[in-house]
Amino acid sequence: MTYLLGIDVGTTGSKAVLIDADGVVRASATTEYPMYTPRPLWAEQNPADWWSATVASIRRVLGEGDVAPQVAGVGLTGQMHGLVLLDAAGEVLRPCIMWNDQRTASQCAAITAQLGAETVLRLTGNPVLPGFTAPKIVWVRENEPEVYARIARVLLPKDYVRYRLTGGFFSEVSDASGTSLFDVGNRRWSDEMLQALEIPREWLPEVTESPVASAQVSAEAARETGLLAGTPVVGGGGDQAAQAVGTGIVAEGVVSATLGTSGVVFAASETYRMEPQGLLHAFCHAVPGQWHLMGVMLSAAGSFRWYRDTLGDAERAIAAETGRDAYDVLTEAAAGVAPGCEGLIFLPYLTGERTPYPDPNARGVFFGLTLRHSKAHLTRAVLEGVAYGLLDSLELMRALGLAIEQVRVSGGGARSALWRQILADVFNTPIVTVNVTEGAAYGAALLAGVGAGVYPTVAAACERAIRLTGETQPGPAAAIYADYYPRYRALYPALKGEFAALAQVVSKYI
Ligand code: XUL
Repeated sequence: MTYLLGIDVGTTGSKAVLIDADGVVRASATTEYPMYTPRPLWAEQNPADWWSATVASIRRVLGEGDVAPQVAGVGLTGQMHGLVLLDAAGEVLRPCIMWNDQRTASQCAAITAQLGAETVLRLTGNPVLPGFTAPKIVWVRENEPEVYARIARVLLPKDYVRYRLTGGFFSEVSDASGTSLFDVGNRRWSDEMLQALEIPREWLPEVTESPVASAQVSAEAARETGLLAGTPVVGGGGDQAAQAVGTGIVAEGVVSATLGTSGVVFAASETYRMEPQGLLHAFCHAVPGQWHLMGVMLSAAGSFRWYRDTLGDAERAIAAETGRDAYDVLTEAAAGVAPGCEGLIFLPYLTGERTPYPDPNARGVFFGLTLRHSKAHLTRAVLEGVAYGLLDSLELMRALGLAIEQVRVSGGGARSALWRQILADVFNTPIVTVNVTEGAAYGAALLAGVGAGVYPTVAAACERAIRLTGETQPGPAAAIYADYYPRYRALYPALKGEFAALAQVVSKYI
């Protein structure tokens, strides 16, 4: 038996997934670790925690017996954009500054002012955003000079785990794309960005294509994890690119929509395309020779969770009594409401927004309430508002000439048949589900299989492992949503100034 191991160094824990060559999941284990917020808007983690959690998860999936000798390859994925700093001895200099850390707004503004927004887009394919890596390096230079003076290595989270697993310093193109230091079009570090920001090139790891086996499990890591020394470790991918591999988004025409806390719309592209204003992330895909475009909505299923937790007491009580899920109780009532909710529209900007409105001040709104509206209307409006928000990203992709023939949905929200129907109708595109639910770690395992020679290509790996399990066709409501969507679209521009003004008032009292 041949096994492949995928490891996802995620935001809440490190997950290991062991699959066989047919893609069947043989074991899966997650070990959690804390995230620290030493100040408002900061988010940090200890790289040592990732490593000990990864060791624990690997040991759990290998279990007893004879599995390790049959692990043909290991693939790494993880939270993107985080800054890990090492000194010359390979010791961690400070906690990782994570992807969701917002401390670098002024560094981003300064970099953009110094280089010009167009130059930054030309060099890296994306604007410099507070979550990205480069502005965090500048922040350390300005705020922790004693740390900055000792930097010898800069790594992304999964690449730190690779260092602990193999002793090697490597990254790969998809994760490097989110650093603001990478020439995404040419798939290499951007010397111009590095020079402009005075960041030494030798701090950065060598970058490979994602399925390339760049290092092997070291003897020391073998003792800790139970893997065999010499097992190849492939580049892997940023979590979104690896997740896309794990749902088969490896050719143009098929797009994924993930309804997790946040909502991600992800499209593979055979050519390097950029949204002219940088509203979509333009990154290298984990498939050699492909790129991807990505829209990130901050509160997708997170909006529905908020709604259930704040307004769904009655449904939670029914669920507790009847052994059902409170979400099902809510959606059952919402299914009885006509599409469009008789003019009630929900804006899902509960935690600000990223795509298509990079605006931390944007807020959630119920718009169009009347005496006729019941709780079921409110529920349905939340589901529809999230679908409209995802459509915003799809529309930006369509405007760049990407064909969108099918949308593959995953994440917790995709379990709802009503939400899937709303998505099919709002997108006016068939929605499908796939057999794989293990996410990014699964995609990393498939990439490991390519690097280890188990599959000839990433597409072949996906073909062998991933199957469609259900399809929802758009119905007559598509025409109704086509009428409502422009009204949704008009609301943010109308409210933008008021969101900013409201934030100012709120800041006086909180
Ligand atoms: C991608 C992104 C998140 C993080 C954490 O741009 O910010 O997907 O990688 O999951």
